[in-house]
Amino acid sequence: MHPLNIPLHILNTDKPAPAPAHATQEGKLFDAHGRQIRDLRLSITDRCNFRCVYCMEPDVKYIPKMQLLTLDEYVRVIKVAISLGMNKLRITGGEPTLYPHLDELLEQVGKLGLKDIALTTNGSNIKKQWATRWKKLGLNRVTVSLDTLRPERKDAITRSKTSLNTVIESIDALRDAGLTPVKVNAVVIRGVNDDEAIDFADFAQEHEIDMRMIEFMPLDAGKRWEKRHVVSANELLERIKTKHDVIREVDAKTSTSMNYRFTKGGGRIGFIASVSEAFCGACDRMRMMADGTLRPCLFSDEEWSIRPLLRNSASDDALRQFFRDALWQKSAGHGMDRDDFKRPEKTMSRIGG
Ligand code: GTP
Ligand code: 5AD
Ligand code: SF4
Repeated sequence: MHPLNIPLHILNTDKPAPAPAHATQEGKLFDAHGRQIRDLRLSITDRCNFRCVYCMEPDVKYIPKMQLLTLDEYVRVIKVAISLGMNKLRITGGEPTLYPHLDELLEQVGKLGLKDIALTTNGSNIKKQWATRWKKLGLNRVTVSLDTLRPERKDAITRSKTSLNTVIESIDALRDAGLTPVKVNAVVIRGVNDDEAIDFADFAQEHEIDMRMIEFMPLDAGKRWEKRHVVSANELLERIKTKHDVIREVDAKTSTSMNYRFTKGGGRIGFIASVSEAFCGACDRMRMMADGTLRPCLFSDEEWSIRPLLRNSASDDALRQFFRDALWQKSAGHGMDRDDFKRPEKTMSRIGG
C-alpha cells in the first residue's frame, strides 16, 4: 500500500514511494520490517538452455536485448549496493554461463571486497578449466541445479539433452577447484522425483557436497503448481532417516535451508521449506533482474526499474535513494498460506534463483 492507503498497483510505480527519513541509516539498507538487506541476487541473463518443468515453458519470450543492462551497468549497481552495506552477491540467470561477459564481470566484481560471491548454474556448460579460472577471479562458491539422479528423468524434467554425467562432472570439477561448499539444488515434486530422497543423501556423501531438497513453489511458467505437488521437508527427512543417521547443524539466521551432516562420512543434506515453513522473517535478500528491474521480494510483483536512472546520468546518491525506496516496499512475507495469495507473474528464470 501507498502511505495514503491507495493500492500500489493502480499508481504509477515507475518510481517507488519514498522511504521515510528514518529509514536511512548511513551505509546500511533496512526495510520497513527492520530487516537489514545484505544479499544481492543479480540475474545477468534470462536466457537458458534448459526448460525445467517447474520454471520455464518451451515458448518463453526473452527480454529484448536492448533492455538488458551492460556489463558496466551491472558493475555500477553492484558498487552502489556495496556502498549500502550489501556484502553478499549471488550471480544467477536464467543460466548465467550463457552471459557473454561473465569472466569480465567476475574479474571486476572480485576486486570489490565482497564477503561472498556465489553463482547459480544448471551445470551444463562448465569446462573444467573455467572452474579454476573463476576461483582465481574471486568467485567463492557455486550452486548447481540437479533435480534427479536418473538419466531419463533428467531429460524429461529439464526438457534438454544435456547428459546427467556432464552435470555430475561439473559438480566434481567445481568442488575440486575449491568453489566450496558446492551446493546442489533439487526441486522435489510429488510423483516426479520424491522417490529419490535417499539417493540424494547418498549422492551428498559420495561427492562431498551439500545436497538441498527444495519444496516446489508456485513460480512455474506453466502455472501447474498445486499444493498437493509439494513434498514437505519433514517428509523427506523422515525418509532419509530410515537409512542415514544425521545431526542438525546450527544454521545462519538468514539461511534458507535447514542443514544436517551425517554421523559418518562427508557431505551434508539440507531442506528448503519455503512452503511448509516459510523463512521470510529473516530474509536479507534483494533481487535485480537482467534488465535492471529491482524486485525486493521473490513473491511480490511490485518492482521498479533502475535502468532509466542508469541511462540518464543519475548520480550514485540518486541510485542509492532509489534502492532504499524500492527496498522500503519489500513485503513482510510471501503470504502463500493466505486466501488472497496471488502467484507471481514472473518465473524464477526471469527473477533469478
Ligand atoms: P546462499 O545462502 O547464498 O548459499 O543461498 P541459498 O542457500 O539461499 O541458496 P540458493 O541461492 O541456491 O537458493 C536456493 C533456493 O532457495 C532457490 O532456488 C529458491 O528455491 C529458494 N529461495 C532462495 N531465495 C528465496 C527467497 O527469497 N524466498 C523463497 N521463498 N525462496 C527462496
Ligand atoms: N520452485 C522452487 N524452486 C525453483 N527454482 C526454479 N523454479 C522453482 C520453483 N518453481 C529454483 C531451483 C533452481 C533455481 C535456478 O531456481 O532451485 O535450481
Ligand atoms: Fe533454466 Fe534454471 Fe529455469 Fe531450469 S530452473 S529452466 S536451468 S533457469
